[in-house]
Amino acid sequence: MRDLAIDLGTANTLVYAKGKGIVMREPSVVAVDRRRRQIIAVGREAFRMMGRTPSSLSAIRPLRDGVIADFEIAAELLKYMIRHQMKGQLRMRPRVMVCIPSGVTEVERRAVEDAARSAGAREVLLIEEPMAAAIGAGLSVKEARGCLVADIGGGTSEVAVISLSDIVTKTSIRTAGDEFDGAIRHYVKARHQLLIGERSAEEIKIHMGSAYPIEEESAMMVKGRHVVDGLPKTVVLTSEEVRDALREPVREIVAAIRLTLENTPPELAADILDGGIVLTGGGALLRGLDLLISEETGVPVRVADAPLDCVANGTGKCLTKR
Ligand SMILES: Nc1ncnc2c1ncn2[C@@H]1O[C@H](COP(=O)(O)OP(=O)(O)OP(=O)(O)O)[C@@H](O)[C@H]1O
Ligand SMILES: [Mg+2]
Repeated sequence: MRDLAIDLGTANTLVYAKGKGIVMREPSVVAVDRRRRQIIAVGREAFRMMGRTPSSLSAIRPLRDGVIADFEIAAELLKYMIRHQMKGQLRMRPRVMVCIPSGVTEVERRAVEDAARSAGAREVLLIEEPMAAAIGAGLSVKEARGCLVADIGGGTSEVAVISLSDIVTKTSIRTAGDEFDGAIRHYVKARHQLLIGERSAEEIKIHMGSAYPIEEESAMMVKGRHVVDGLPKTVVLTSEEVRDALREPVREIVAAIRLTLENTPPELAADILDGGIVLTGGGALLRGLDLLISEETGVPVRVADAPLDCVANGTGKCLTKR
């Protein structure tokens, strides 16, 4: 059985198999029948049910806000991913390395370990998200040179300065992709009196969200339910409006990066000025976020290749070396 590395993220869970790379990626959603306390679906299938479940079913995201909000369900998600890879080869137990948000408590760590073990792992190793992100982005974390990585995921943005394989200083905030979606929903409700779901808000963000004025502004039709008469309705939303909606959460992320820079020892700050800031995580794909951060900090910024995969790849690389 191949060893496995798992990025247990608030939005997506990825599995990396040693020697193969990323073999599985699923939304971190589990659908549960609450009356019978039974798991109905996991991952993509459960994601499709989000916001569309009858009252007896709920589609749960067990890792909201970067913390394990629902242990039991998070464990089920982890088990599903591990068992899927083991496919009945129950005698060959893999070593599993799991990437967890850097703020989790000792109790939460143990819960993740127990879940992986009960799913069949022989040994469970944990790694913190910023370290995995930096390794996955190809940064040379072992050197006596500072590098700054900002991983903007679904639930948390984690900003860390790493040198000599250690996190020197870090800032973690619970503002990331989910908050972007929430800000869009809030804006559309306040401005157009239209209620839209989480998934619609995410689609708007991915389709035309931005943090910095973009060359070609656009507009799209958005469907939802009118606040006043309760009926389905369509409104037109422009990319300028979406940028306006995202202003506050984007500002919070920029502030977290600035704070981290302020807490960085001078020698390492000089290294960062040379090496630049590297963005990972799905939130890094927001148009113009790199430009804005660069303008606000005076430091060059680049988005890592395949930012959604960095943490899983970094965890995998780390596991392979052990
Ligand atoms: N093209 C895009 N533009 C903007 N945001 C995007 C894009 N693609 C994905 N995202 C957002 O990225 C987020 C998911 O990123 P990622 O998979 O890195 O998070 P995660 O690792 O599950 O969460 P966390 O690290 O906080 O636990 C979601 O909020 C998603 O909407
Ligand atoms: Mg992540």
